Amino acid sequence: MKEKIKQYLEEINSFSADNAEQLEQFRIKYLSKKGIITELFSEIKNVDKEYRKEIGLLLNELKKSSQEKINLLKQKFEISQEKGKSDLDLTLPADFVQLGSRHPLSIVRNEINKIFSRIGFTIAEGPEIEDDWHNFTALNFPEEHPARDMQDTFFIEKNPDIALRTHTSSVQIRVMENNKPPIRSIFPGRVFRNEAISARAHCIFHQVEGLYIDKNVSFADLKQTLYYFAKELFGEDTKTRFRPSYFPFTEPSAEMDISCNICGGSGCNICKYTGWVEILGCGMVDPNVLENCNIDSKEYTGFAFGMGIERITMLKYQIKDLRLFFENDIRFLKQFEGAI
Ligand code: DAH
Repeated sequence: MKEKIKQYLEEINSFSADNAEQLEQFRIKYLSKKGIITELFSEIKNVDKEYRKEIGLLLNELKKSSQEKINLLKQKFEISQEKGKSDLDLTLPADFVQLGSRHPLSIVRNEINKIFSRIGFTIAEGPEIEDDWHNFTALNFPEEHPARDMQDTFFIEKNPDIALRTHTSSVQIRVMENNKPPIRSIFPGRVFRNEAISARAHCIFHQVEGLYIDKNVSFADLKQTLYYFAKELFGEDTKTRFRPSYFPFTEPSAEMDISCNICGGSGCNICKYTGWVEILGCGMVDPNVLENCNIDSKEYTGFAFGMGIERITMLKYQIKDLRLFFENDIRFLKQFEGAI
């Protein structure tokens, strides 16, 4: 019997449980009513009297050891359970989710939209895949105009010609075909040209086109609208100047410069030491264009303008390489966080 008890004692001492279930099995095995220890106690009466005391003491030790073992393991489970609980603190603030930032071209486009909205211009869009009529012919481009060349235009189909639009002026035609004057709208969008990619040019870029058609619209209206625009976008101190130019769809045509917003007009490498930077083309809508859209050019006149969003964004934020807009480099984009 002594041997048996010692063996159980060893078993109990070396016992360990991985979970509460195993521990309960252990308790049932040794300490329950029908367990080993109860049974051993009941056998005491069969032991020779002279050994009874010793066996009794050993049995008490066995009982104590198993009880202690159970307590110890119970405690261990409780601690680890509590630990598990404290990992799940529902009152902790949620993990920080990194928000994206708006692309600088979107920021500037939105700003341009807002500036013109304030003086009554609506916003319209047209398709990026255009036919020859809307991109060239209706805009008074002569048959042999170099812009129609394969070198400048991405054609999708030839005869009849379908191409990626080379400018947002095509939207002018669509809007005039589908609306009666007065028309006062701007058309932001993406345009495509077959150009070698460099710091100053890309085959994809963005423009905003403007169109105002009504009775008695004059070049003075055009100038006043664009003065307002330049001051709103680049600041109250911005000066403007118009230089004569040529576009097939406007007559007369002009290009507008603003005083260099980097050096304030005193001369720097951005304005090539002239003090001026060009920001857009404009002019009075050519009567041929109005007639192509079934608008009576004797009754109506109008002005149009077009600008590159990349160029304006580069000037506004002093960005020196246009390719940065298309590379999605997070270090570049992060600098515009918070802007809308
Ligand atoms: N479409 C011209 C371009 O892409 C820009 C332009 C110039 C638009 C004069 C106009 C305008 O509406 O009147 O270079």
